[in-house]
Amino acid sequence: MTSIIQIQNLSKTYNTGFHALKDISLDIKRGEIFALLGPNGAGKTTLISVICGIVNKSSGAVLVDGHDNVTDFRATRKMIGLVPQELHLSFFETVWDTIKFSRKLFGKPDDDAYLEKILQQLSLLDKKHSKIGTLSGGMKRRVLIAKALSHEPTVLFLDEPTAGVDVELRKDMWNVVRGLRDNGVTIILTTHYIEEAEEMADRVGVISKGAMILVEDKTALMKKMGQKKLTLTLEKPLVALPKKLAKFNLQLLNNGSEISYAYDVSKGKPDIAGLLADVQAAKIGYSDIHTAQNSLEDIFMGLVKQ
Ligand SMILES: Nc1ncnc2c1ncn2[C@@H]1O[C@H](COP(=O)(O)OP(=O)(O)O)[C@@H](O)[C@H]1O
Ligand SMILES: [Mg+2]
Repeated sequence: MTSIIQIQNLSKTYNTGFHALKDISLDIKRGEIFALLGPNGAGKTTLISVICGIVNKSSGAVLVDGHDNVTDFRATRKMIGLVPQELHLSFFETVWDTIKFSRKLFGKPDDDAYLEKILQQLSLLDKKHSKIGTLSGGMKRRVLIAKALSHEPTVLFLDEPTAGVDVELRKDMWNVVRGLRDNGVTIILTTHYIEEAEEMADRVGVISKGAMILVEDKTALMKKMGQKKLTLTLEKPLVALPKKLAKFNLQLLNNGSEISYAYDVSKGKPDIAGLLADVQAAKIGYSDIHTAQNSLEDIFMGLVKQ
């Protein structure tokens, strides 16, 4: 797969002196869904605003399909659709007028069949002549997507598409986004919902305090989640782990009152029976035993805390 967007050593310092993006380099592959995951204030909106050419970069470069997004702004802006975080729509305009006007703004010739196809995809066709003000929140959000797609962009940015949206609607939105990707649109979405990245993304980028701290294939990230931990609560604290148990990947925690065994389920069956037998043979008594799985959330929290 080739890159559709190349971000090279991108930095942004706002006029206030705030360093919002720190030397970000990232390639977005053609046809993928890329989730930009990060807590509030991490720089997600700033990053996509710079790519879309709404916010000026301080240094570095952004190429969209090989075109520089500053020196060749007109070409790159046409290739991009942006669904902003905030709902900006005129209440009294109809759905149809909104998207038709938006297409015209990009200098595209009329193509009602294309616009109707978008409305159909977004389940908005029966609302074509409704005034925006009469629509539900979820529909308004879909109108924003239709508007962003009106000029046939090849890349669609969705800034927190499901923030404040209830669970049902969130699932509808995910299906809509998948449908767009199946039609060949590259999708970059920002989110602070880990579940959303887990559900939707082909790749995940984690941004924290303006720095890209991890970019990984989602499946690879899920493999990391294969890490599990078994904890034994000991009857009496230990000063050190007996040599007999050295072959297991163990840690002594909580002032010696817990033994923790980390294992990777993707790398074969763990030898839990062997561990327990050796613990017993070493005459270590335990009063409780439990297991836990490393979630994307654990990985994420661990990364963001560092
Ligand atoms: N116009 C601006 N001037 C100064 N600081 C800004 C401006 N816009 C955003 N910031 C700051 O940059 C940081 C990143 O903001 P933003 O990109 O909106 O984060 P996110 O979308 O991840 O929540 C925040 O600390 C925010 O206060
Ligand atoms: Mg934001």
